[in-house]
Amino acid sequence: MKTIIEDMTEKINKQGMERAGEILKNGGLVAFPTETVYGLGANALDETASAKIYAAKGRPSDNPLIVHIARMEDLYTIAREVPEKAKLLAEKFWPGPLTMIFPKKPVVPYGTTGGLDTVAVRMPNHQVALELIRSGGGFIAAPSANTSGRPSPTKASHVEEDMGGRIDMIIDGGEVGIGVESTIVDLSGDTPVILRPGYINQAMLEEVVGAVDVDPTLLRTDCKERPKAPGMRYKHYAPKADMTIVEGAQEKVIAGINDRIRSALEKGELPGIIASDETADRYPEGVVKSIGSRKDELSISRHLYSVLREFDELNVSVIYSEAFDTPNLGQAIMNRLIKAAGHQIIKV
Ligand code: TXA
Ligand code: MG
Repeated sequence: MKTIIEDMTEKINKQGMERAGEILKNGGLVAFPTETVYGLGANALDETASAKIYAAKGRPSDNPLIVHIARMEDLYTIAREVPEKAKLLAEKFWPGPLTMIFPKKPVVPYGTTGGLDTVAVRMPNHQVALELIRSGGGFIAAPSANTSGRPSPTKASHVEEDMGGRIDMIIDGGEVGIGVESTIVDLSGDTPVILRPGYINQAMLEEVVGAVDVDPTLLRTDCKERPKAPGMRYKHYAPKADMTIVEGAQEKVIAGINDRIRSALEKGELPGIIASDETADRYPEGVVKSIGSRKDELSISRHLYSVLREFDELNVSVIYSEAFDTPNLGQAIMNRLIKAAGHQIIKV
């Protein structure tokens, strides 16, 4: 299959958008930018179309997809019940990086929800995405547009790497703004629960609806329970190299990483370091990459996945990363880094 690349980095190209809508309505696959990461879209109400997403990504079929909408009223077409708290959150944060789980109506096929009776819904805050959802029929299932197990794509070139030749079209909308996937909230109980941390953090949610819990499996590395979002159970975001996070006071972290880089080099390894703008020049050896500035949290989240992809290309064999427990996005960033590291954390 030849994958069409539509450039909409400067502005939306009307003809290209109509063509993309046609592809979706005919059961095809179109990758598109959102404010979080690139999505791989298909008509969510067409089971055969959703099945193509699973095939293109190599995704386990019990891992449900998020349905993307562009109009508030469309929520009621697919959700059987919309709790009051969900309405308040939608009013405040949609369009935006927030996904909520609802009991589904029969119109949503089990092929889209991984066999669940619930459906995850989000309205992305990106003009290209919103326009595409409308022109594709209003209900677009879209996981991140990466091969299953690889870092989520934050640029069209990442999508092309993973999906080129396997999907009908990629819409290039430039680099994304946030870089980590949406916050997922389950509202089925009295207290909303965060199933996946993202840009909309616990404090922001609590300002609107009062107490909000966090799925305990996200915070503890030794937790025996299974995360409630099926996708959070799989090994995810994994770079090819063996990755370890080094956590502690800044000077100790720098010394601890430099020690480990030296012994890796002695063993003939090619080591990489995930540093920040503030610390990058403190590492004299190894392949050093700055993920962003500690003074600008979004620069860190935005570059996280591309740094992991760059290390894959350089074929480093081990990666040492600083920890990034920043005030607002720290939970979302560390959740992804800890998964990439397969939970290997050293405290210094
Ligand atoms: O920011 C995002 O959410 C991006 C962009 C493209 O919108 N999408 C995304 O989709 O991250 P994906 O498929 O990579 O992650 C969806 C997550 C998975 O962990 C999945 O298990 C969970 O959402 N999920 C979907 N439906 C669910 C449901 N009914 N109940 C619980 N978890 C659900
Ligand atoms: Mg994903």
